[in-house]
Amino acid sequence: MSMDVIVSLCKRRGFVFQSSEIYGGTGSCWDYGPLGVELKNNVKRAWWRDNVHRRPDLVGLDASILMHPAVWKASGHVDHFTDPMVDCKACQRRFRADQLDERPWTHYCPATKGNKFEVPAGEPCTHCGVRRTLCPECGRGELTPPRQFNLMFKTFMGPVEEDAAVTYLRPETAQGIFVNFDNVLQSMRLKLPFGIGQIGKAFRNEITPGNFVFRTREFEQMEIEFFVNPNDTIDGRPADEVWHDRWIEERFAWYQRYGIRAEHLRLREHDTSELAHYAKRTADIEYKFPMGWSELEGIANRTDFDLKQHAQFSGKSLTFFDEERKTHVVPYVIEPSAGADRSVLAFLVDAYREEEVRGEKRVLLRFHPDLAPVKIAVLPLLKKRSDIVATAQTLRSELARHWVSVYDDTAAIGRLYRRQDEVGTPYCVTVDVQTVGDAEKGEPGDRKVTIRERDSMDQIRVPIAELVPVFRELFDGAAWSAVAGRHPDAKAAN
Ligand code: GAP
Repeated sequence: MSMDVIVSLCKRRGFVFQSSEIYGGTGSCWDYGPLGVELKNNVKRAWWRDNVHRRPDLVGLDASILMHPAVWKASGHVDHFTDPMVDCKACQRRFRADQLDERPWTHYCPATKGNKFEVPAGEPCTHCGVRRTLCPECGRGELTPPRQFNLMFKTFMGPVEEDAAVTYLRPETAQGIFVNFDNVLQSMRLKLPFGIGQIGKAFRNEITPGNFVFRTREFEQMEIEFFVNPNDTIDGRPADEVWHDRWIEERFAWYQRYGIRAEHLRLREHDTSELAHYAKRTADIEYKFPMGWSELEGIANRTDFDLKQHAQFSGKSLTFFDEERKTHVVPYVIEPSAGADRSVLAFLVDAYREEEVRGEKRVLLRFHPDLAPVKIAVLPLLKKRSDIVATAQTLRSELARHWVSVYDDTAAIGRLYRRQDEVGTPYCVTVDVQTVGDAEKGEPGDRKVTIRERDSMDQIRVPIAELVPVFRELFDGAAWSAVAGRHPDAKAAN
């Protein structure tokens, strides 16, 4: 499946729009539409609930985006947060020097009278055998030697645009956690090991943003800094190494818990040449995106680098008092650092399915119910019957007190089901003639509605009075088959 399929579905169904589209777009920022904002909030909520709320050893934080400029000097971002960049002397386009061979390249082949070809990434021309040396885009211009380009967005704090007022939009949320280490430790009376989790925006002036929301200039991170006593051991191994392994395992399991197939995830260890200067070990969780295996989350052992740097630059002690050993220690840090936008993309791609149902294509997003933007759609079988419409609208209001629920009567029922499948709504509730009866003929309704399950398309009839408890059971994780088994008057799948 190509990225274009996802991009087009996202636009058509209100998940993601190009930022400032009516002005031609920016190409590096995206806006989450009505369904996208629900999906992204659900991803962040699941992350926060599982890490910050459910774990006894983690607390949350929401630090500001603008920080004291010294933070970025201490963290190393002012001096080291750079990418090597080259410019085309002909078309002026700019590329990351280390990613030049990851893109197809334009070639005017001398062996075919200068005909223009697009040669696959990293491969030589099959006609003349040469490899790319010129601009991959225009195929004609020479490239400048690589120059280092700082990825931080500069801005000014206060009304005067002078050097003294320069600061940066944070390029990672992590530093907000490090500079608050002592505040959190003291105010919450914590003991090692413990973690601080944070979700928030980060900004990087990426040279080559792309692949939809995979690499953008404004994005959201979900980061944990987990502080460990470097003098501790667990089963004879240094505690930081054990916790690193535990976090890798936990984060792998998290993506699978919310529906990502195990075969679409893999771990990639950074080799020593690739390791950041502060890292003892880093492992990336990679996902099989449409453009290939790429980083979804990085899990680094940052040692005591950050706390030591901030202690040195601020002159404040950032240590933990180890009661047992009667000594101050600078904790080591394990950092599971995930992207909210990349997670949304991975969940979207993994949920996408095309099936054939009675000779027609059915597109569905098999979202985990916790992530689905809409949980229940209430649909009237006949929109001309005011009693059916009124019952359906009342039901939607009642269900909406518990779960995100929508009402739709803008098409025939089969079409409405397909629309909900395509946005991943796990359940549809249909109100029909049987539900309300016929007042003119004096026939009472049975006050039952149909619940249709998205993946199996199975349907059961349930008394309206039981709807909330049934959905509560389902959204608490009960298997559809177990619930359906108790409601035998099922209908044909639709
Ligand atoms: N504090 C460590 C840190 O920021 P990183 O590997 O640079 O590490 C962590 O970023 C995660 O943030 C990545 O795995 C990715 O999910 C997300 N991320 C980084 N740059 C991004 C970008 N330009 N667009 C979208 N997500 C990005």
